[in-house]
Amino acid sequence: MQFEEGKIIKTLEIDGKKVFLRFLKKEDAQGCMEYLNSLIDEKAQILLQEKKTLDDEKIWLEREINSNRLGSNISVAVEIEGRISGLCSISKGLVEHHATEHVASIGFGLHKNYRGMGIGQALASLAIDMAKRAWNIEMVRSSYYSKNIASAKLHEKLGFVEVGRIKNGIKMWDSYSDEVIVLKKL
Ligand SMILES: CC(C)(COP(=O)(O)OP(=O)(O)OC[C@H]1O[C@@H](n2cnc3c(N)ncnc32)[C@H](O)[C@@H]1OP(=O)(O)O)[C@@H](O)C(=O)NCCC(=O)NCCS
Repeated sequence: MQFEEGKIIKTLEIDGKKVFLRFLKKEDAQGCMEYLNSLIDEKAQILLQEKKTLDDEKIWLEREINSNRLGSNISVAVEIEGRISGLCSISKGLVEHHATEHVASIGFGLHKNYRGMGIGQALASLAIDMAKRAWNIEMVRSSYYSKNIASAKLHEKLGFVEVGRIKNGIKMWDSYSDEVIVLKKL
């Protein structure tokens, strides 16, 4: 599917609410910042630990939209009741024009109010499917903290298998956990 700012890719209906899975648009900086900072506030098991400012988010968003346009990255936002409530980003290769262009990397998350409803699975499946159709990729890699049960379950459900583990590879709020590296062959 051709990237088009703000375009709705899929609509789900959950608990009577419309859940839009759509491309990012330049007006999303505030929404993305609020969503991301809500994860940091709750100490979610993600790589970021510091809150973002609106200026940080504007710079990030511009880059993200640009790489969506160039076709090296696909970002899918979850919009519920007018708010950004989740994000998934999948990128081709670890470094551009490199020998890893057959490998995509994925990351995702949802606002705490909307977890456990199947949205994470729908979001990640959609992004993987789009990446598979857009690029000549053979596998998707991801990783999560060993303590992140929800992420472990979702990766398993999506068909990822553990290929490695970095003991104490994550140090978050002074507590260690392993980084679990997972792979899904396409
Ligand atoms: C990880 C995350 C994206 C999962 O999304 P989600 O929408 O809640 O997951 P889904 O509802 O699609 O569930 C997918 C599967 O995982 C299981 N699952 C989800 N949350 C779970 C939990 N807290 N405990 C156990 N299993 C869980 C579900 O039961 C489901 O399996 P099932 O269909 O057999 O029941 C979400 O918990 C999240 O955003 N967490 C905070 C950010 C984060 O950790 N991101 C990932 C970083 S690697």
